[in-house]
Amino acid sequence: MLTNTFKYHLVNSRFTVVKRMGCTVVVGGFWGDEGKGKIISYLALKDKIDVCVRTGSVNAAHTIYYDGKRYALHMVPSTFVYDKCRLLIGAGANIHIPQLLKEIRETNVESRIGVDKQTSIIEPNHSATDKSDTHSRRIGTTGWGVGPAIQERAKRTAKLANDIPDLKRFLTDVAEEANAAIDTKKTVLLEGTQGLMLSLFHGSYPYVTSRDTSAAAVCSEAGVGPSNVDTVLVVCKAFITRVGSGNLPGELSKEDAIRQGWFETASGTGRERRSAPFNFELARKVTKINGATEVAVTKLDILYPNSKEATVYNELSQEAKKFIEQVEKATGAPVTLIGTGPGALDIIDRRGS
Ligand code: IMP
Ligand code: MG
Repeated sequence: MLTNTFKYHLVNSRFTVVKRMGCTVVVGGFWGDEGKGKIISYLALKDKIDVCVRTGSVNAAHTIYYDGKRYALHMVPSTFVYDKCRLLIGAGANIHIPQLLKEIRETNVESRIGVDKQTSIIEPNHSATDKSDTHSRRIGTTGWGVGPAIQERAKRTAKLANDIPDLKRFLTDVAEEANAAIDTKKTVLLEGTQGLMLSLFHGSYPYVTSRDTSAAAVCSEAGVGPSNVDTVLVVCKAFITRVGSGNLPGELSKEDAIRQGWFETASGTGRERRSAPFNFELARKVTKINGATEVAVTKLDILYPNSKEATVYNELSQEAKKFIEQVEKATGAPVTLIGTGPGALDIIDRRGS
């Protein structure tokens, strides 16, 4: 059971959260691309995250705007923006070595990044298979080779980080480090990737990724037990997008998506994203399976342009507030963070209110 160190008060039928501490898991609610990079980079700076463990793999890109620069990170944790944060890649993750080394140089984090010695390796033949395999093309995979690398791991024939000379200087025991940080009351964040609807177990199979993406799976990949987690933050965008194949309830035509301002292209692959309105029933399901204690809603300004760059809840229009209240009603969790623009500080943080 989760030991939730947050205290929730029901004030005038709205939740208020008092204080964040301990270990937070951040996961995506729908089909990925909800804006986890923005939320995590904000938390890194605001809460001074001491240790972050990134899970998942190179198929996911987390976008961060920091210091006038845009980063689309596939491997380095999104908390790199806080320069005292120890950056870790968990045992359950899969590493694409050239991409990891490139991002380490770009973000200048060589002295503070660590890789678990049991993290498995994506090899060039995995990427080649993913790009050419007919079934992978039908699913619409990203082509990075994550699925074939996980198959290799399940066969027990995979290379691990421990076997790679270029990674020797980064090797560590991530579970040991993360649990020691939790035991000494440091602030820890476990960074999930993609979204629950892309989960191999709970998503829209077979049009899913090759692993579970739930909060429980993130804990497992990092090596942190569920009883050590204090906060499960599920990030949902104010509208839904999806890349690749598979059903998307309420899907808009490209023309309508452009008209609504919902048309996006993928930060990693450049592919066009399909879009649909926010789905309250789906939000209920994904927050339940993740055991959400809080919800973040990103891109509220796209739905309600007059909320652009708002940083105070009361600046929002009645309609925008009503939407947030409906999300809270559907999910049974407080919406604590609201994204109102691309900048790291374009955020309404209701955790202290
Ligand atoms: P794979 O994870 O590359 O095998 O791709 C499987 C499915 O998950 C495809 O529909 C991809 O478009 C989707 N997918 C994988 N990673 C992401 C992500 O980070 N954001 C959005 N979709 C993703
Ligand atoms: Mg993304």
